[in-house]
Amino acid sequence: MSSSKHNRNFMSERRKAGAAIVVTGAAGGIGGGIARRLLADGWRVVATDLNATTLAELQSQTGSSQLVTMPLDVAKADDIRKTAASLKERQIAVAGLVNAAGLLQDIKSFMAMDEAAQRHIWDVNYFGAVTCTQVFAASMMSDGGGSIINITSINETRPLPLHAYAPTKVALGSLTTLTAGEFGPKGVRVNSIAPGFTLTPIMREKIASGKRNVSAIENATAMRRLVEIDEIAGVASFLMSDDASAVSGASIPVDAGWLATSYWMNFGELLDS
Ligand SMILES: NC(=O)c1ccc[n+]([C@@H]2O[C@H](COP(=O)([O-])OP(=O)(O)OC[C@H]3O[C@@H](n4cnc5c(N)ncnc54)[C@H](O)[C@@H]3O)[C@@H](O)[C@H]2O)c1
Repeated sequence: MSSSKHNRNFMSERRKAGAAIVVTGAAGGIGGGIARRLLADGWRVVATDLNATTLAELQSQTGSSQLVTMPLDVAKADDIRKTAASLKERQIAVAGLVNAAGLLQDIKSFMAMDEAAQRHIWDVNYFGAVTCTQVFAASMMSDGGGSIINITSINETRPLPLHAYAPTKVALGSLTTLTAGEFGPKGVRVNSIAPGFTLTPIMREKIASGKRNVSAIENATAMRRLVEIDEIAGVASFLMSDDASAVSGASIPVDAGWLATSYWMNFGELLDS
């Protein structure tokens, strides 16, 4: 099999050969949106999540023979290894990985943080991605290359008051550049997507219960709006494709311009249309 090092059509060839993209957190808003988009792009998709019921709904809604659903707890390293072994047994090669499984948290004082709860957030958001990367990158490398996407957050570069969640996303961004550096010679690209406030079901719940202030978010955002799931999925589609054949170690904010303008409200004479 040719390697992706000099072959800029590598991912298209893997897609045509029936290799799969593994998506974690695929029962969720962003993971589910990415799984659907990759299916529409013609990829075989292995959708994994802790939530087997919603995974089954994804299966029945898409009705796609290209979709394989597998319950998986990314906080359990053995579960990840078993998933990889089961794919190997079924002769499903893996060309890509999207680490989208993640736990959000309610805002708490740093002093009130419960250690066990915090460690669990690390186990899912960070160590889940670490083990998935180790396990699935190994098979990508042996097939000549691949593409990995870590779903971080705008807090990768800007502090947010989520005392357990936020450090996991900073660490995940660091993991992106570290693995991009190490895997590059083996043909595996690694990038982050850093979503802004995205209208997933869980974010809609937070808005409805007053835990996020939509008008404050809109005023702090260059485009004066939140992000839709398919706008994250479109960037994932790009990073999985050969259009991104020279993109590795990048973090792409998909935030409607929130990072560009979120601190502008400190000035008293803002321009507005
Ligand atoms: N929605 C936003 O505004 C936003 C912003 C920035 C980053 N993100 C990130 O995007 C990702 C998806 O967020 P979302 O809004 O779609 O949330 P979501 O809750 O809809 O999706 C997260 C999914 O992860 C799954 N999950 C949780 N624990 C798991 C485990 N141990 N093993 C496997 N799966 C597990 C959940 O079942 C859920 O389906 C997360 O990593 C989140 O941090 C979201």
